[in-house]
Amino acid sequence: MVDVDRRVGGAGCPVAHGAWAPPAGEALAEADVLAEAEEFLRLFHAERRLPGVAARVGQVRDEIAVTGTYRHTREELTYGAKVAWRQSARCVGRVRWAGLRVRDRRDVTSVVGIARELGQHLAVAENGGRIQSVMTVFAPDRPGVGPRARIWNDQLVRYCGHRGVDGSVLGDPGQVPMTDAALRLGWRPPPVPGRFDVLPWVLETAYEDPALVEVPRDLVREVALAHPAYPWFEDLRLRWHALPVISNMRLRVGGVDYSCAPFNGHYLGDEIGTRNLGDGGRYDQLLPVARGLGLDTSREDTLWREHAVLVINQAVLWSFRQAGVRVSDPHTESELFMKFCAQEERAGRAVHGDWSWLNGSVGWAALHAVHHRYYDTRVPNPNLWPAQRAYGPDGAAQLTLRQRHAAARGRED
Ligand code: ARG
Repeated sequence: MVDVDRRVGGAGCPVAHGAWAPPAGEALAEADVLAEAEEFLRLFHAERRLPGVAARVGQVRDEIAVTGTYRHTREELTYGAKVAWRQSARCVGRVRWAGLRVRDRRDVTSVVGIARELGQHLAVAENGGRIQSVMTVFAPDRPGVGPRARIWNDQLVRYCGHRGVDGSVLGDPGQVPMTDAALRLGWRPPPVPGRFDVLPWVLETAYEDPALVEVPRDLVREVALAHPAYPWFEDLRLRWHALPVISNMRLRVGGVDYSCAPFNGHYLGDEIGTRNLGDGGRYDQLLPVARGLGLDTSREDTLWREHAVLVINQAVLWSFRQAGVRVSDPHTESELFMKFCAQEERAGRAVHGDWSWLNGSVGWAALHAVHHRYYDTRVPNPNLWPAQRAYGPDGAAQLTLRQRHAAARGRED
């Protein structure tokens, strides 16, 4: 079994530590890989009503005895990725888990090939605004050594945080370390830096040093924000990208880690309107919006912040809808999540969930259903875990994958 506590809070977990962790390159004991593989294969065969589980487990046992790991069939990988989503405690959109489109790209191992596939991922997922949930899975990690490929960006589309000489930040303050990392690798920012400059990708593989790749602009769909009732809102010149494609999580299926497996769903308006644009450590737009509304911001008990955040959320939902880009509101999503809970319970499965993540920040007034229950807080595999970060808070790189794999090859010689 996987030691959940070690994975969530232990070394190699950047989310828990808020800083970069040294390469762990952890290798599970053979018995642990086998136990997790067997658990997954049983789930896969049972849920898909497939025969032959004993034979498959035997085959996998032999493969693990020789190589320390095993290769999933395409069907196992696809189903494992779907179950990983179904069991992701923080995601409120899981009713759609079985519809995940999985692109098996385990044989694409070069920076150029990966970049091309990432571009295709953006196109397939964007789908003319009718956003589809997609995951592209590259080669699995090498046990005891580390990932065979890595995307440094936390999402495929993110906006730069340009650090000014006076310490101010133009753009997304949350992306200052990634922006620094790109600059250290020789990236040239636009001659006139803006608030919504798309970051380049930084990609590395077992054989290639980290490389900068400009994101094909025609593949980045964005929505300019306006409000149906307040014409001045447009003058704030706010925008956001249509696709949230997470690229810093490790898919784990049946004892095999896939550190390079970017995936996306579509946005919940709250993520953009409240967190990305509202948070003080991000675009910090509550005050400008409150000023536009003419609110009294001299005291907290006018609840000007709540008023401003609500107006930004309305602008996000309205603008995305006008642009024909799929987006969810908290009430609809809450209903759908309840449907998911009912489905899971009917199938005899526990609903894993993290209450604080499932409940957004808008929509409280209608006391939506997601609030009124608790969830199983265990985190089983298959699942999605934070991947090791490639760079530190100052954007400086740690050991590259090429160096790690070369050292491992040297040990073998
Ligand atoms: N909260 C993240 C963002 O604002 C996206 C996380 C994934 N969200 C999703 N709807 N699949 O970019």
